Amino acid sequence: MKLLITGGAGFIGSNFVHHVNKNYPEYDIVNLDLLTYAGNLENLKSIEKNPHYKFIKGDICNKKLVNDLVKDCHIVIHFAAESHVDRSILDSAAFIHTNIVGTHNLLEAAKNNGNKRFHHVSTDEVYGSLGPDDPAFHESTPYDPRSPYSASKAASDHLVRSYYHTHNLPITISNCSNNYGPHHFPEKIIPLFITNLIEGKKVPLYGDGLNIRDWLYVEDHCHAIDKIIHHGKIGETYCVGGGCELTNKELTYKILNQLGSGEEMIEFVTDRPGHDRRYAIDFSKIKTELGWKPSVTFDEGLAKTIQWYRENENWWKNIKSGEYQKYYSQNYGKR
Ligand code: NAD
Ligand code: DAU
Repeated sequence: MKLLITGGAGFIGSNFVHHVNKNYPEYDIVNLDLLTYAGNLENLKSIEKNPHYKFIKGDICNKKLVNDLVKDCHIVIHFAAESHVDRSILDSAAFIHTNIVGTHNLLEAAKNNGNKRFHHVSTDEVYGSLGPDDPAFHESTPYDPRSPYSASKAASDHLVRSYYHTHNLPITISNCSNNYGPHHFPEKIIPLFITNLIEGKKVPLYGDGLNIRDWLYVEDHCHAIDKIIHHGKIGETYCVGGGCELTNKELTYKILNQLGSGEEMIEFVTDRPGHDRRYAIDFSKIKTELGWKPSVTFDEGLAKTIQWYRENENWWKNIKSGEYQKYYSQNYGKR
């Protein structure tokens, strides 16, 4: 089995590369990643010399490269994306390019090379924003994206589904809630707050701090994708969630408590424009059909995550200082 993983140098993609290598050591993995600001080969150091693993630096929008790589694989597992909502508010061009044009390019290559199996990793944000008493998002919830990021992911989901209906491309899609864990880029709330507090800096809480997110430990997300690519029904979408809704304020207090910091470290700042109020996921379909459910409780996952950030200060200090982007040119660039 040969997997083409896109975006495998990012947060979830790199955790998934390690998940596959640990659980299916005989699988060949090709990791196609452009190494944008969010891609970091430090995430893959322990696997880089493994004969079953190959890293290719490249853009999913590069037609020839993508066609050659897709031709040579059995399944595409597509993580590569611009993923940060705040960046999409400041400048959305890269989101349209990578998330929509890049996904289309991969779909074309999959279609033109004998209809390759294609799994698309997407987000719960495509469903919009819930009120306090609304039922959780599920596979039939109408799409209602509200940020340039989620609109670009919604467009990519529609394209993926259209290739199933029009071209019989054997696709599956997963729409997952907020992940956290090792390798999470410290622009997102959990790693930003952990690393700020370790550095003795305050944490910026947007608006009234009462927006709600549903949290899932990244390894649980990797298990869900594993189930879907091996046992999922072709053409289907699976909603994946942690069953763990927290307001950002509750989340911040949990981080403060685990790090022994006080509430004076919270700084309320101007809200994110168009800030979705609440996400929640009904994951009963994947639970019933594929036997998946989250296995790591939030307090346990947060403790493991904090421990990882404490033990890997170089990793995030290099990111915060910009040093991490030198790794590729020093280790691969000359080849
Ligand atoms: P990330 O930003 O950490 O990583 C994205 C990776 O994609 C990086 O390694 C980057 O270099 C690569 N990339 C970006 N543009 C590329 C291009 N044009 N060609 C090749 N590679 C490119 O993102 P993440 O948080 O790991 O998210 C991975 C996927 O999961 C995304 O599709 C995202 O929408 C989805 N998702 C994320 C979450 C979450 O909580 N982080 C939740 C649900 C779904
Ligand atoms: O729901 C899945 C999505 O989760 C993924 O599709 C995205 O790729 C991922 O980035 C994440 O999006 P969010 O916008 O929910 O994550 P973020 O960590 O940016 O913000 C989480 C919440 O915390 C949100 O309500 C905004 C708030 N926040 C965020 C930051 C960075 C703050 O209050 N302060 C901050 O500094």
